[in-house]
Amino acid sequence: MRYLSDAIQRTFRAEQTYFVRSHAKINLTLDVLGRRSDGYHELITIMQTVDLNDTICLTATKDTSVRMICTRSELSNDDNLAAQAAQAIRQRLSLTQGLDIELHKRIPVAAGLGGGSSNAAAVLLALRQWWQLPLSTTDLQTIAAALGSDVPFFLTGGLALCEGRGERITPLAYRLPPSMRWIMLVKPAISVSTAVVFRNLTERDYSDGTASRSVLAALAALAEGGNQLPLENLHNSLEHSVLEQYPQVAQAREEMLRAGVPYVRLSGSGPTLFSTFSNLSQAAHVQQQLHAQGYEVYLTHAVYPDVEKKVE
Ligand code: C5P
Repeated sequence: MRYLSDAIQRTFRAEQTYFVRSHAKINLTLDVLGRRSDGYHELITIMQTVDLNDTICLTATKDTSVRMICTRSELSNDDNLAAQAAQAIRQRLSLTQGLDIELHKRIPVAAGLGGGSSNAAAVLLALRQWWQLPLSTTDLQTIAAALGSDVPFFLTGGLALCEGRGERITPLAYRLPPSMRWIMLVKPAISVSTAVVFRNLTERDYSDGTASRSVLAALAALAEGGNQLPLENLHNSLEHSVLEQYPQVAQAREEMLRAGVPYVRLSGSGPTLFSTFSNLSQAAHVQQQLHAQGYEVYLTHAVYPDVEKKVE
């Protein structure tokens, strides 16, 4: 441990800062196969990172505490997953180095877009890189999985198949088709608890994973020069229950369809809904219409891992 502290002391001075971006995700598919004996649910989900992002600024301090400062004051506390990620690394390596974590939040919170999980993964990757920590990919994945089911996905980002409770990641080298060039996110003005949504699932919501497998096959066919991704295969096992329990989400879905979107899917446990467009002017037209109705609307696009951020 002594060696570690010396190594770290050499790599930075107090007040030195490290900026990092933290992207949101959508679930192209989310098949819930069933409930497990540990209380979690067995999933097959295809996730994709999008350009919508938060900015995190890490500053080394002279003391030994981790301080969380967020543009949303309710997130400026030790419960924030970004702070927990820093604490997990400090604990794992017996480090006492102090750290300020400033988080500029732009990703909607408790929205099904993975913002908190993404922030945690970004802190793990940033600290490993900045402080040159002796943590293997497996170490990082283990720490990430302990922080939350979605955190391991964000260590690689891009397009990936996620299984188990979401923590078993297979990165996919495929790209979304032109029909999905622009991704519209519509966030109804409510927050949804992932735990509550999962708890309210019943047998009728479970699937056998067909949707994810067929989207996977379609993505593979696209890479071989195939045509389109059949949008009807985009499926979310949580959607039925969320639309039933939260009328605001059902209403937003109706408004989106009325505004002319080609289809609507829920991202994660919601309440954010998404649709896709090949054409920016059509997307902008729909965005203006929904915005005028009071919806929080983001027009974004798929992003793929930077070489430097990729965990090898
Ligand atoms: O893993 P994470 O803490 O993000 O999950 C939040 C909650 O969502 C869990 O406490 C659990 O109730 C539910 N969940 C689940 N099955 C999963 C992932 C999450 O039941 N695969």
